[in-house]
Amino acid sequence: MSDDSLAWLGTAPIPAAPYHDPAWFELEREAVFRRAWLQIGHVCELPDSGSFIRREIEALNVSLLIVRGRDGEIRAFHNVCTHRGTQLVEEESGRRGTFSCPYHRWSFGTDGALLAAPDFDRFFVDKADCALPRVALDICGGLIFVHLGTPDKGLRDDLGPYATMLDGFPAAQATTFSEYVYEIDANWKLTYDNFQENYHLRFIHPRSGAPAVGEDNPFGYPVKMGFHGPHRTQTIWTNPDPAPQPVQAQSFGRAARFAMADGTAGPHSRDYLALFPNFFILGSPAQPFSHTVWPIDARRSRGVIRLYWKGEDDCASRRYAREYAMASARDIHAEDRDVIEAGQRGLNSGALKHIHFQAQEALCRHLFTAVDERVQAYRADLAGTAPRPVSRAEAMA
Ligand code: FES
Ligand SMILES: [Fe+2]
Repeated sequence: MSDDSLAWLGTAPIPAAPYHDPAWFELEREAVFRRAWLQIGHVCELPDSGSFIRREIEALNVSLLIVRGRDGEIRAFHNVCTHRGTQLVEEESGRRGTFSCPYHRWSFGTDGALLAAPDFDRFFVDKADCALPRVALDICGGLIFVHLGTPDKGLRDDLGPYATMLDGFPAAQATTFSEYVYEIDANWKLTYDNFQENYHLRFIHPRSGAPAVGEDNPFGYPVKMGFHGPHRTQTIWTNPDPAPQPVQAQSFGRAARFAMADGTAGPHSRDYLALFPNFFILGSPAQPFSHTVWPIDARRSRGVIRLYWKGEDDCASRRYAREYAMASARDIHAEDRDVIEAGQRGLNSGALKHIHFQAQEALCRHLFTAVDERVQAYRADLAGTAPRPVSRAEAMA
């Protein structure tokens, strides 16, 4: 992709503080995470009425209870009893007809309504006013998103053309997944950026990443990048003369044949979709990979890596192809991890006022720009709503 076509993103150095500064992260909590659709799960986790999952969003101090109701609809609630605030559900997932609070046994339906409460006649409130607090939830391509603020757009509107793209990704048809969760001593943007530039491939992944670089493209740069609002996409280059390890060739070949048979090999096999703020997903049918990077604090994050699959493992060969795809994702991630953490330690020292992105690291620059715009807008809101200083004369009047 030509450097000129990316010039609109600018070329200025990037301030380093947003990648390590706790005060900046405090702004991001509200400016970014309260004001965006957040990818939180997949419909296959809620197969039946009463199926539920609990999800923690540390950046907002929020615990969510996501439930499929008797009517089949999936809803999200704050995991908080409306009597005195006790967290209702401790299990990570399960299936229940009602949710009963451990403290005084108020019980709620799968639609969040308060069904029963002991000795309720002595309260001074109606049951109808005691439903679990609801959180906006929407679904696209089988993926569940929530919004913890007041969304100004529905999810599909927000995603624009990427909504249709997501519908064509293998995850849209998934019935199960493999998951790998990790914690890392690094800011969420620094962690995420590692997975949206190929500049490091030949140095950090000389073996595992070899099929993605070649003589014509020694850094494995993408063939195309695209942008829609704060979201972005890239199309990964195809090496015409790949030299995979024999085990890679055999395992991914097998996975690709299963994907053809399952009908999950769609038009997006080389596409990468990055949805603001913290989620990306690949359309590759052999390794249908998604990654969500959740901030824990300014310098620590949790990553959720998933590979989405259609159907159960019905034979050893399919099992092997899936296990290999996950093992190789973990392998590559293990190679990345040390350099991401080393980057964070360097930034934490405060030695740098700026960092630099080159033209082909445009996706990293775009993420920073989208975050920066939101933080600056939020700062302006705060300044506009701050109480006007009261003069001494007014105060005494
Ligand atoms: S806090 Fe839940 S019933 Fe009292
Ligand atoms: Fe990497």
